[in-house]
Amino acid sequence: MRKPVIAGNWKMYKTVGESVDTALALKPLVANSNHCEVIIAPVFIALKTVADRIEGSNIRVAAQDCSTEIEEGAHTGEVAAFMLRDIGVAHVIIGHSERRQFYGETDTMVRRKVHAAISAGMTVIMCVGESLGQRDQGMAEAVVRGQLSGGLSGLTAPDLDRIIVAYEPVWAIGTGRTATPEQAQEMHAFIRRVFAEGHSENAAQALRVLYGGSVKPDNISGLMQQPDIDGALVGGASLKVESFAQIVNYERT
Ligand code: PGA
Repeated sequence: MRKPVIAGNWKMYKTVGESVDTALALKPLVANSNHCEVIIAPVFIALKTVADRIEGSNIRVAAQDCSTEIEEGAHTGEVAAFMLRDIGVAHVIIGHSERRQFYGETDTMVRRKVHAAISAGMTVIMCVGESLGQRDQGMAEAVVRGQLSGGLSGLTAPDLDRIIVAYEPVWAIGTGRTATPEQAQEMHAFIRRVFAEGHSENAAQALRVLYGGSVKPDNISGLMQQPDIDGALVGGASLKVESFAQIVNYERT
């Protein structure tokens, strides 16, 4: 059984104080949500305070990025994965489409970040997903396949236990336009097949594949009913405690 993951990506929203307030308000609302792993990803500067303040709860804190470099060094502005691990951050989102689109992140950089995070003992949420133009040209699967093999090559079997993939079609992020559960399911099943080809059937069956892109309280249940959807990476709707708690506590059949 794959345990679902519901992760909130707060992007560049909320000050440290607001992040702590949100995390503390969320805590009681998800305290009994043992059916899934609950993760929130505040901005870098809020990570330690939030992690300290919710210690002992069932909420885990994730970073939204990490450096390509494994070791400390002269890399102005960067934060190494082992430094995140050191402050109690066990998860990191890597290769989000906003980083690929606006900060020039390539598959090679994604792969280096994945390796840095794995060598620091972290769990990676690696994002993949096609743009609308690519989907319209029938290239969605090829794009996702390329991102998967580009980002995840060179990993050993034990490393794969610490990989979560988030399928986030770029056209669905922040647009209010969600992929239908069937569209998402189709791509999730494809991701699992590619993972089986590249690694092993066992690793593919154990892989959690999250859906991301305009996930809301009213569409989460339909998505979660699909056999290959193992959770969600939630942007906008994770910023408000009530809506994120509703998503975490989605109706299960
Ligand atoms: P959204 O963002 O839920 O606001 O569409 C998802 C994401 O970017 O992870």
